[in-house]
Order: sequence, then structure tokens, then C-alpha cells
Amino acid sequence: MGMEQPALPSFDLGSGPLMPDPFIMETGKVDLAVYTSQQRFDVEREIFGRVWLNIAETAEIPNAGDWIVRDVKVRSSSILIVRGKDMQVRAFHNICSHRGMKLVWDDKGRGGRFSCPYHAWMFDSAGDLLHIPDEGCFPHVDKKASGLTPVRCDHWEGMIFINLDAEGTQPLADYLGPLTDKLKNVPFASYPYTARVGSLIDANWKLAIEAQCEAYHVRALHSRTVSKMLSSKENPFVHPLHVEFLGAHRMNSVPRNPDYELSPEKLVQAFSFMNAQQMVIADTGAQDSPDETFAGHPDINPTNSNLWGNDQFVLYPHFIFHLSLGGWWLHRFWPIAADKCYWEAVYHFERPQSLRNQFAVQYSLALNRDTLMEDNLALVQQQEVMESGAKKIVQFGEQEALCKHLAAVSEAAVNDAEASRIAAQ
Ligand code: FES
Ligand SMILES: [Fe+2]
Repeated sequence: MGMEQPALPSFDLGSGPLMPDPFIMETGKVDLAVYTSQQRFDVEREIFGRVWLNIAETAEIPNAGDWIVRDVKVRSSSILIVRGKDMQVRAFHNICSHRGMKLVWDDKGRGGRFSCPYHAWMFDSAGDLLHIPDEGCFPHVDKKASGLTPVRCDHWEGMIFINLDAEGTQPLADYLGPLTDKLKNVPFASYPYTARVGSLIDANWKLAIEAQCEAYHVRALHSRTVSKMLSSKENPFVHPLHVEFLGAHRMNSVPRNPDYELSPEKLVQAFSFMNAQQMVIADTGAQDSPDETFAGHPDINPTNSNLWGNDQFVLYPHFIFHLSLGGWWLHRFWPIAADKCYWEAVYHFERPQSLRNQFAVQYSLALNRDTLMEDNLALVQQQEVMESGAKKIVQFGEQEALCKHLAAVSEAAVNDAEASRIAAQ
């Protein structure tokens, strides 16, 4: 039985309106070389230098002077994100104006003053150059014009985005398109307890994203971990409950199995589930008022299904977040080479109220990590044989709608980038 196809809007990555590739949307067939070819990767590297990229959360730098550093290796860039005295969040290239040293070597801190490890030039949270030791030796330096190089930076619902194109003019809201007006005031702050995991994966970054964008693989690949928590009598193949295409982005509602039974053989699981209900992520019950939880928000679980497990938003090019009853989690997939990426995930829980809750949250994290390891190990096997050239295409089915739409948007974006490069020659 075919699934209903949602409306397909155009999108704009800053170069004018584009449509997702119609052949991919129609057939689900994608050229396999998009996962292996260096040429394709080179165009994607260009695109990462031009579009808005999610990189952090405002909650990571709550106070004036707080800062974090994040690498964007595909652009050979390190980015310093800092909250100024005026509480504005700003981003700068993490490179010193004197002789190009990496300015900040730690990954987070506070105080909003940055002294270069090489010769101690000093910068502040607004990126201004404050002090040059032995300043008399630099008669040709205009201090006012020698601050840090700014990076365009904006945020939406607590999520910080940067854009590495210094000449670009597209506002973040236009890039987010139909997403901008969704999820207004989603109570992300109700889930302040976080844990961060990450790993290098020897696979193309798009393969890694796709593994998080469909639940078709859950019954096979995750038969030992979460399969029975998601696959139910009513929805054995774990079809999405709802799909929406949102410009360059997309969402779906992921089901769970409401009749999941705890096994008497899995005592640790039984103990932790009794102490915090968890379908994918532990719900400690710390938030009892509905407007403090995602479940109380009108944009979440749009079909009001009792099979609802979580809503998943997949932003072009590399950012995913899931909102569920007990909390939320995000993934960023950073390309490194055609066959290598860095995956980072951050889990956000309610603050555990007791040791039992704490145990349940840790169990939930371990279960998620095990499941993601199953994905990541599979991706390496996939990449390895894809390189053989034996197959020319991959084939997405209708329940893999998010993968298909992402591939169709990527294809259109790559074609557009190539066309503008040819036009510029
Ligand atoms: S390179 Fe930074 S102070 Fe010299
Ligand atoms: Fe998976």
C-alpha cells in the first residue's frame, strides 16, 4: 500500500527559489556516486561554506563572557562563539590577527577575554583587539581594524546557526523557511540535563544522516536493541505517522509500540523503565504541567496519535533534532572527507529527581549509544562496498520519505552550485 505524499514546497538557500529534484522525488532512485565521488564532495564543501549551519545551543553560553569553540573541518575552520557584555551571541573565526595562530585552544570557558598563546595579543568578547605587547614595534597596525574576523551568526528557538559566507545576505529566518513559524516557544529549557557523545565514522556524512532519518531499518538492524519498542501490532514496519516537507527541511512523527512489554530476563531494563517511563528517552516525570513538556505544544504530535514516540526535524544540510515525551536529542553530522564524517549527538533530559531517576537516565543513554553504534558499524560496511562500483543507484521507498526528500534537496542544491560556478567562469 502506498503512503500519502505530502505537499512539496520550493526552498531557497540564498541563491533564489529551487525545487527538490523531481526524478528523485518521483522514483526514490539516487545516483550512488553521491556517496563516493570526490567531485560531489568538493561541491558539498562549497555548499557548507555558504548555507546556515547549526553549531550550538544558546543554553551552552548562558552568561556574558561565556564562550565555546567548534570546528568546521570541511571548511578548515574553527569557530569561536561568545556571549558579549550586551548578552548578544557572536561568532568569530578562531584565528589571531597577528600571524594566524589558532587563538583559543580549549573548547569552552568564561570571561570573554582571549589572549593568543603565541605572542599574547588580546581580544575581547566583541572581537576587538585590546592589547598588543610591545606595541611600539607595530607602527603599521590599526588596532581598530585588527579585531577578530566575524562570522554571521543568529539563533532560532535556542539553536545557534552560523553562515561562513561573509558576503551572503540571506537571513536565517528565510533559510529556515516554513520552519521559522513552527515550534514557537517550545519548552527546550524543561530539559536541562545533558549528555554529549560523538564519534568519527568511516562513511559519507549523508549515509550517517540517512540512518537517523528512517525507521524502516529498526526491525532488522536493531533487532537486539530497540526494535520491539518501536514496531507494534498496529504499525509493524514502523511507518512514520506523519510527514511534512518544510522548504529545504522536513519532519516526521516517529511511532512507538504502546504495548512494549518488559522482559523478565532484562532486569536492569525493567528496573530503569519502572523508575522512568522511556520510549527511546527516559521520562522522569519531572515536568508535570503540560505547557512545560513537548507533548503540550500544538505543533508536536500533529496527528495526535496514541502511537506517537517523537517528532523528528531534519534540517538541510546536516542537523537533526527529535522531540519526545521525556526530552529531546540532536545530531550534527560534519563531513570530513567523501568517506569520513564526525557525528555528534547531545541528549537533553529532565533533571533527574532521585537516584532511581538518575539510573534510568543513564540506562537510556547507554541504550541510545548501543543503538547508534549498531547504525555506525553498519555505515562503515555500507561505505566499503559502495566504493566497488557494483551498484549504480540506491533506492528509497515511501517510508523513507525523509531520506528521499533530503537527497532531492541536496541534488538540487548541488546542481545550483555547479550552475553558478559555471556562470561565474
Ligand atoms: S600569532 Fe597571535 S599573538 Fe602572535
Ligand atoms: Fe538506527
